[in-house]
Amino acid sequence: METWDALRARRNVRSFSTQPVTSQDLDRLLEAGWRAPSAGNRQPWDFVIVTDRDQLQRLSKVWRGAGHVAGAAAAIGLVAPQTQDAYHAYLVQYDLGQASMAIALTAADLGLGIGHAVVEDQELARELLGFPEDRLLAYILSVGYPADRPLRVIKRPDRRPFEQVVHRGRW
Ligand SMILES: Cc1cc2nc3c(=O)[nH]c(=O)nc-3n(C[C@H](O)[C@H](O)[C@H](O)COP(=O)(O)O)c2cc1C
Repeated sequence: METWDALRARRNVRSFSTQPVTSQDLDRLLEAGWRAPSAGNRQPWDFVIVTDRDQLQRLSKVWRGAGHVAGAAAAIGLVAPQTQDAYHAYLVQYDLGQASMAIALTAADLGLGIGHAVVEDQELARELLGFPEDRLLAYILSVGYPADRPLRVIKRPDRRPFEQVVHRGRW
């Protein structure tokens, strides 16, 4: 898919087909995250890839909005450092957003859907994924082929009006 088409076709997918995703494609998504830019090139992330059905189902319990993880072909856990410093925390969140979008666009290019989930139950997440005490599971990205319809360019996205969002030269 053209980059511009992948960008316009990407959407949150929360219902996945049973079609498996190859390990090469999963590795490509992980490479996309790995290549993402970050403040000071600190690369604050670690990625935990999960493909085991039982583990996916248990992981889906970390937040009431994470149900889509249960039926995904895979999930990528974005693990980040815990920090008390507000500025550092902002930077980490920005970096995670960049990695997420790189993964989502790479997925769209392959016809794969991504679903985001935040994480509430850090204790359960740590028990399932085994990351160290000084880290947290910031987000989960479900991965799989969409169950409803293939990804295609969305002509009218659900967004605030373009001219309301864009300020030319001055607010
Ligand atoms: C930081 C972040 C957290 C999100 N958390 C969840 C979530 O926990 N569960 C969920 O179903 N969707 C989640 N979403 C998906 C958003 O609801 C979705 O991106 C938004 O409605 C726009 O829709 P689109 O991605 O299909 O364009 C999250 C998205 C972002 C960027």
